[in-house]
Amino acid sequence: SEVDIDASAYDAGEHESYMRKEILEQPTTAQAVLRGRLDERFGTAHLGGLDMDARDLRAVRRVKILGCGSAYYVGQMGAALIEELARIPADAEAASEFRYRNPVIEPDTLYVAVSQSGETIDTLLAVQEVRRKGGRCVGLVNVVGSAIARECDGGIYLHAGPEVAVASTKALTNMFLAFALLALQLGRVRDLSIADGKRLVAGLERLPGQIEEVLAGEADLVEVAHSLAEAESLFFIGRVRGFPVAREGAQKFKEISYRHAEAYQTSELKHGPLALIDPAVPTVALVPQDELTERNIGALHEIAARSGPLVVVTHEDVGLGGIDARRVVVPRNEPELDPILLTIPLQLLAYHAAQHLGHDIDKPRNLAKSVTVE
Ligand code: G6P
Repeated sequence: SEVDIDASAYDAGEHESYMRKEILEQPTTAQAVLRGRLDERFGTAHLGGLDMDARDLRAVRRVKILGCGSAYYVGQMGAALIEELARIPADAEAASEFRYRNPVIEPDTLYVAVSQSGETIDTLLAVQEVRRKGGRCVGLVNVVGSAIARECDGGIYLHAGPEVAVASTKALTNMFLAFALLALQLGRVRDLSIADGKRLVAGLERLPGQIEEVLAGEADLVEVAHSLAEAESLFFIGRVRGFPVAREGAQKFKEISYRHAEAYQTSELKHGPLALIDPAVPTVALVPQDELTERNIGALHEIAARSGPLVVVTHEDVGLGGIDARRVVVPRNEPELDPILLTIPLQLLAYHAAQHLGHDIDKPRNLAKSVTVE
């Protein structure tokens, strides 16, 4: 079922859809989740709502993230951030599967429920399973006072404002930023140095302006999106930090364009999907400037050799070595924070593809903003 949203409280105004309005709001809403939570002096974050002191934070030996749909994919981005910055094993699991396997709940694991609405039944039941077995569960939730927020031991509110479009954009961005704050705080009570902490605080402060830069390039993406909309099927590929970005990009694309879009690890291409690559099957590849750039470009050659059309989301200084591809350049931040800047153009690609195909962007067929019954 669907949660009723009082649309009069939130008007799409001159925008043709809530989704586009929400995409364009991100530079402002991103500031809201960071406000008052960054500590420049000690290179850390303050998250009072977590209700965990330094000793509680240090006692965490593992992090398990639970969410559905986009919240699950951003959970995978969050897990990577936490492992990198805090060196604690972290992973994300679809909340819709979690309670069906009688999960082992450990007292030194921090469970993190992620939900825009705070009402998704699968996520709520996962939280209840954790708490019933004595685990500590905190929430990354947008809607204040929602069922999941009330059920959790504490949490980080996302402050993204009301999100109306089914496809999550600004809430998802704030989920990522909230994970960055959590990872920073978990890191800084462990071995993350003050220098690294300060580097990341500065990176987070730069992000809203860089999101604005990506959005300013919207016009360049329209034609690319239209060409992708013509394909019946496409791949989104990325590695390590980039893979959850690919999953989220494919999810958005299929949700609103109704095209088959599948995410793969770039490294797995040669173990299966390469068989499908031909001129009718485009690939959107995430190739940030990082330790895997060379290997990623190797995979692009494999695709190009089979005449697969390529859209490469990348950084300015990455050279594609003569590969015929549409480049989409995003600004560089600290490598750990790059995933969110790589995600923004994928929102615009999905949006303009769906727009081109004439679909109801805010209310895609068969989907609800919030799934509140089993
Ligand atoms: C539904 C929506 C998805 C959303 C998911 C989780 O399936 O169609 O777009 O990501 O629920 O929603 P939540 O409110 O828990 O973030």
